[in-house]
Amino acid sequence: MEINGKTRLIGLMGNPVEHTLSPMIHNEMSERMGISSVYVPFKVEEQGVTAAVRGAYELNILGMNVTVPYKNSVMGCLPVLDEAARQIGAVNTLVRMEELGGYKGYNTDMMGLRRQIQEDGISLQGETVVVLGAGGAARAVVYMCLLEETKKIYLLNRTITKAEQIAADMNRIAEQTISFTKNSKEDREQDGKQAVIPMALSDYSSILEENLIVFQATSIGLSPNIDHAILEDTKFYKKIRVGVDLIYNPANTKFMQMITANGGQAYNALKMLLYQGVIAYELWHNKKIPQDIIQDVYAALKRNVYSKDNIVLIGFMGSGKTTVGLRLARELDMDFIDTDAYIEEQAGKKISEIFNEDGEDTFRNLETEVLMNFRNTVKNTVFSTGGGMPLKKENASLLKEIGTVFYLTASNQVIYDRVKNSVNRPLLQRENSYETICELMRERTPSYESVADIVVNTNSNHFKEVVEDIKKELKL
Ligand code: ATR
Repeated sequence: MEINGKTRLIGLMGNPVEHTLSPMIHNEMSERMGISSVYVPFKVEEQGVTAAVRGAYELNILGMNVTVPYKNSVMGCLPVLDEAARQIGAVNTLVRMEELGGYKGYNTDMMGLRRQIQEDGISLQGETVVVLGAGGAARAVVYMCLLEETKKIYLLNRTITKAEQIAADMNRIAEQTISFTKNSKEDREQDGKQAVIPMALSDYSSILEENLIVFQATSIGLSPNIDHAILEDTKFYKKIRVGVDLIYNPANTKFMQMITANGGQAYNALKMLLYQGVIAYELWHNKKIPQDIIQDVYAALKRNVYSKDNIVLIGFMGSGKTTVGLRLARELDMDFIDTDAYIEEQAGKKISEIFNEDGEDTFRNLETEVLMNFRNTVKNTVFSTGGGMPLKKENASLLKEIGTVFYLTASNQVIYDRVKNSVNRPLLQRENSYETICELMRERTPSYESVADIVVNTNSNHFKEVVEDIKKELKL
């Protein structure tokens, strides 16, 4: 984009700001919209917030985003606030108002989440919702639930006083604000309960309703602590119909995995990040962004957040890991490592010998050792992994850290047909090898699914197409 005398500046203020994705989102949008505006991060110290907002206005800066730790304190620097931002008590977007000689504050985080759930077809009207956490994010979620006319909101937090505070504020708002419709108010009155019910996190089992919609608004499960979920009791997850994790990295958090494993639908909040940006951009430029441009920006965002240097192929023997891996490496000019071959070389003996002489545990530990080594050293590599590699939990998380994990699937029959004549697979030297395959597949599928970033079917035997599918997923 050409920067000229008409180019407008937009900024982000916060501290720290180094890891923000917002410049990428907004500059992509300007590029695609053909609008000459540039978005840059500004690190601002606490004592400088007021001067920064004033200075931004005087420099004719079109708008600003505000991030931690100034989402509350910036409110005092603004002549006017959008109603929702005022009620939530947090502002993340400043929109220039010439007539007021300052900026109007909005909360596009809440608006972005609202747009995400609408797009994903999640209706909250009349529903019982659970919000986990009682920080700034939870406050915005509860407010959004009120706007969407939920029936009841259980607000659970480790520190119950924080949940009580938010519940008191939000219940007051719900009573006072006529825009929260009669319908939900009647529901609430019928129940004889307030709309927002604060609870200690540890009391989760006293929620008796089923079909819950749950928002996860704590930082638990955020990368690199990907093995944690705020609650780990399967009984709770069985009651969840839809869950939204406000975390987007990793893409499939432990919380989300537990929901899908128990039959619910799970979403992360990358779209919320996208839409808080889209809505801010629309407010600044007073223009609607067409859906095809939003999709392009979303693809770029996903690539930015999730794409790692390495590609990891997992799946059962005969699923095509080696064929696909070698071809991918060749086409993308990457290195190729077959983990089984690598371990055999390191150990100086065949895997069957390691199994027979030292036992399976020793082999899985060797796998862990090499993965730990790869994690810190290997770049630009396609890995073809041993079929049992993701079974050990530690190995599963290491694989995810190493690269984007593709799970190659094929039906039991296709696998059997591919491997029945191979001589070097000890597993198949038995009479009932088809049954063995079926049984192992049943056992292993949950592990494969939980570690996979992307699942690719190889039933067609057209490995060239499988390679193309993977490249498409990687936007290459
Ligand atoms: P944000 O503004 O993004 O919502 P926050 O205000 O720091 O972030 O809130 C973090 C939330 O995560 C809180 O609800 C916090 O619970 P407490 O209020 O009890 O601190 C929750 N949280 C963080 N670590 C937690 C843990 N290990 N167990 C339970 N809750 C946790």
